[in-house]
Amino acid sequence: MQVKVVIGTIAFMLTMIILGYAALREPERLGHFTAAREGRSVETGAKLYFDNCATCHGVEAKAQECYDSAGNSITCQGLPLNNYFLVCGDTPARLEQTRFEGTKQQFIERTVAAGRSGTAMIAWSERYGGPMRDDQVKNVAAFVLNFANEEFCAQEPISFDWPESVDDFLILETDDFVAAPGDPENGAALYASYACNSCHGTIDEPGSNQIGPWLGDIEEVGATRVEGQTAHQYVYTSILNPNAFIAPDCAQGPCVSPSAMRSDYAFAFSANSPQDMADILAYLLGE
Ligand code: HEC
Ligand code: HEC
Repeated sequence: MQVKVVIGTIAFMLTMIILGYAALREPERLGHFTAAREGRSVETGAKLYFDNCATCHGVEAKAQECYDSAGNSITCQGLPLNNYFLVCGDTPARLEQTRFEGTKQQFIERTVAAGRSGTAMIAWSERYGGPMRDDQVKNVAAFVLNFANEEFCAQEPISFDWPESVDDFLILETDDFVAAPGDPENGAALYASYACNSCHGTIDEPGSNQIGPWLGDIEEVGATRVEGQTAHQYVYTSILNPNAFIAPDCAQGPCVSPSAMRSDYAFAFSANSPQDMADILAYLLGE
């Protein structure tokens, strides 16, 4: 009798130990499973991205290098998605700018699903008349979110220390940067390569703007926008901080707040050269 109780107790304890061990292992197993599933989702999303999105958002999703279906280099119409301000941190700057309340995953999935009305970004979900199933929208969003790896997000991009005043900028001399007189010809090339023309149209063609105001007359108009600001100061500020002042009339009607203009040119110019600013100003406003 005694022996049976002892054996019973030992058996019971052994069972508990084995069960306990299995229970402890379970989250680990689930973790592997989740990681594998996420990996597959990103992979499927990458293919969807290259087939559907790269024409506008670029081969590296930086909106810098775009090709049409025939392989010709074209202007990127979309915004950079491989972008610190869209994917890094719990609440990336882009969500705050657009006053989105939710997670970055929701932001990206909803943008892809529903598109942005009045822009080239169509609704991709079948639910809104687009070509993708919900699982495809999720996969392509997972691909975009996957840019937020530790290395990429470790350091906030460094911005050049832009002076408040355009006059100070145009004569700036520091150890790292000496402003040269703006080159309007290079400014014209930059106006295309930074995709200003995709929203603002061509300077010598009134009405060619698709989203923002036409900028062919900004030399006169810019001087009237904000009291006390010259056209140079106004354009300089508009590029560095599109939300500082919202222009009245856009291509499709009144301009909306927050601005639909990319708000990371301060960083994009810093990464290339602050001189790009001087060249674009020379192109838009003359010297
Ligand atoms: C025909 C060009 C075009 C295609 C194709 C396109 N987009 Fe876009 N996308 C845009 C434009 C333009 C915007 C900016 C809209 C605006 O003004 O807010 C945008 C915005 C976005 C944004 C929001 C970015 C931000 O910072 O607010 C995401 C995310 C996005 N697109 C993802 C995708 C994905 C994923 C695909 C493919 C399924 C795709 N886009 C296909 C043009 C395009
Ligand atoms: C995705 C579309 C888009 C792109 C790309 C874009 N802009 Fe804009 N821009 C806008 C919109 C929309 C407005 C109007 C709302 C506002 O005031 O921010 C605007 C406003 C402006 C204004 C003020 C215009 C006025 O009439 O008051 C200037 C100047 C300007 N942008 C310059 C540029 C330059 C230079 C570039 C390229 C380096 C550029 N933008 C790229 C959409 C864009």
